[in-house]
Amino acid sequence: MHPPAGTISRFTVEDYQIPGTSLKIDKNIPIFISISAIQRDEKFFPRPEQFDPDRFLQKDQWNHFTYMPFGEGPRLCIGLKFTMDESYVFFRNFVQEIMKKREEAIDKGEGSGYGDFIHQLVLLKKRGIKREEIKNDDEDEENEFLKSDANETDVSWANVDLDDLAAQAMLFFSAGFETTSSLLSFAMFELSSSKNGKQIQRRVAEEVDKVIKEDGGMITYDGLKRMHLLDRVLNETLRLHPPAGTISRFTVEDYQIPGTSLKIDKNIPIFISISAIQRDEKFFPRPEQFDPDRFLQKDQWNHFTYMPFGEGPRLCIGQRFAMMQARLGLAALISKFEFDLCTKKTPVPLKYNKKAFILAPQSGVWLKTKLRRKKK
Ligand code: HEM
Repeated sequence: MHPPAGTISRFTVEDYQIPGTSLKIDKNIPIFISISAIQRDEKFFPRPEQFDPDRFLQKDQWNHFTYMPFGEGPRLCIGLKFTMDESYVFFRNFVQEIMKKREEAIDKGEGSGYGDFIHQLVLLKKRGIKREEIKNDDEDEENEFLKSDANETDVSWANVDLDDLAAQAMLFFSAGFETTSSLLSFAMFELSSSKNGKQIQRRVAEEVDKVIKEDGGMITYDGLKRMHLLDRVLNETLRLHPPAGTISRFTVEDYQIPGTSLKIDKNIPIFISISAIQRDEKFFPRPEQFDPDRFLQKDQWNHFTYMPFGEGPRLCIGQRFAMMQARLGLAALISKFEFDLCTKKTPVPLKYNKKAFILAPQSGVWLKTKLRRKKK
């Protein structure tokens, strides 16, 4: 009834005429398939709005493609097995153990001020999820709450169990790795695949050397914040190659698409292509050119023309962490090495992997690496 991943994406392998309509989908077009809609279609599930676990007594009668909460075919969710076997148990125990230690620290009055991810999980476990919108984000009050038993009698709080908490940790784990590593791969590609890119690579190396020297030979947190060109390089990479190419939303009112006869109804799930908006020349002149310096004027842009981390209340929760991690990775690499693209293995222009869940290079980014000789 409630598939967590409501849609799956595929590429069409041949032209397809949608039966009973005049609509045709061309070959090689990315499409989204709504699992939610299929699983609530009364053709396949009589009384689809009714919660009836016993319909699974006859599940062998169904076609594979009418019930697919974990997707279907070769791209079937790799987590399907994962959720069932011992890896899941490992992850769950791991989260439980860390949280126990933190709770003990908080009870002793030691760990309540961290404010990190585990702190948030402990908070969730203690108080549950408020059934209404949470308005209070005052940190001191949250820490007070941790020490109280306020939620035990309050019916407006719903319990959150260990599985829910382990799922949050798992989401962080998966959302946090591939995205940042893709960002770094794309940045290395841009800095090593063209004459312009290599010039920028040299400018970044000068900036990194200067800041490291000012900070006594170390890469520091504050130093990373002073590497402005490095930051612009990452921003421009995220414009050209946003790892999460689309975001999903529900429409809150009917909307007529300007200049067309198309109307989107209220309450419809839609996908917004970040990639398309960020390559629109109305917003970014010469959109195909890698030009970090366009970020010198970034205050002139509207929020909704540049949004590699999404926008609004569902904005990526890992944005700051991701940017800090990427700055550190790139600065550490460029401080020591010089990079050139291995064009035999990596095509220019870059090809994307059509089957990847997030935007990723088709055959990786292969680089020739040389130790840098620094100026004294
Ligand atoms: C370059 C790296 C990253 C990019 C480009 C990225 C991009 C995004 C985007 C576009 C969204 C959807 C936002 C929306 O719908 O408006 C999102 C959501 C999310 N991201 Fe990231 N992300 C990155 C790194 C991370 C990291 C490092 C973490 C965790 C440590 C993370 C955790 C999450 C989570 C938990 C959500 C769901 C937030 C929610 O639904 O409220 N992301 N991310």
